[in-house]
Amino acid sequence: MATEATEWNSKGGSNLYAQIRSPKVSLVYPDLVDRIRKQQAKSLLDFGCGSGIFLSEFSSSLGIKQFGYDVDAEMISLAQKKCTDHTNTDITSNLRSIGANTIDAITHIALWMVLKSEQDCLECLRSMHALLSESGRMYAAITHPCFRDRAFSGNILHLDMNNYLKDSVTYKAEIKDNEKTMELTNYHYSLSSISKQLAATGFVIEEIHEYPDVVPHYQGSPWMLITAKKQ
Ligand SMILES: C[S@@+](CC[C@H](N)C(=O)[O-])C[C@H]1O[C@@H](n2cnc3c(N)ncnc32)[C@H](O)[C@@H]1O
Repeated sequence: MATEATEWNSKGGSNLYAQIRSPKVSLVYPDLVDRIRKQQAKSLLDFGCGSGIFLSEFSSSLGIKQFGYDVDAEMISLAQKKCTDHTNTDITSNLRSIGANTIDAITHIALWMVLKSEQDCLECLRSMHALLSESGRMYAAITHPCFRDRAFSGNILHLDMNNYLKDSVTYKAEIKDNEKTMELTNYHYSLSSISKQLAATGFVIEEIHEYPDVVPHYQGSPWMLITAKKQ
């Protein structure tokens, strides 16, 4: 296996991240599409869309209006290229181009772990709350906070569990597929911190889903999904 240990946001980091097809893609993305379809959402925003894989290869099958938002210029450029042929998709770095209370489904995939402070988390959640329609749903996919001290098939996480209850403590995350590995610095928030942040920004949790790994012998759960709605 070729190992290119590149830190997130270092030169070329976004490109490498975009190439790694970790099991998150097969575990979480199709399930999200099913949930959004069942919800009968008419519009979707992928908040922190990265290189646009979810929008271009998965949610585009829904045939609804969709937006991708990111703050990283390299990610925006990769997502725009991937979504060129999808006329129903707008990629933007400006949330003001999206109307308040208009989005039925907001996805928030692998974003919580890159936000450096509780303040950053709250700001993102407030923005999502302002854009979500009254009957809309927000779907937050995160590596399971209780299992950030172990190896799974697609990520090896190195949180010192003595720090479990400390907000925004950093830990090393290696994400990988069969060909490449990448190292990132991630930021930890405990389950209680996450639920307090959601309540403080006007969300109520509707469901928590814990995914098993794609390979059954791993213990615990690599990814969890929180479905939330407006209070
Ligand atoms: C780990 S990547 C996840 C990308 C993608 N959602 C996925 O499923 O792979 C995190 C993304 O969040 C973006 N990001 C970081 N801070 C952000 C913020 N405050 N608002 C929106 N996006 C942000 C990063 O630029 C990056 O593209």
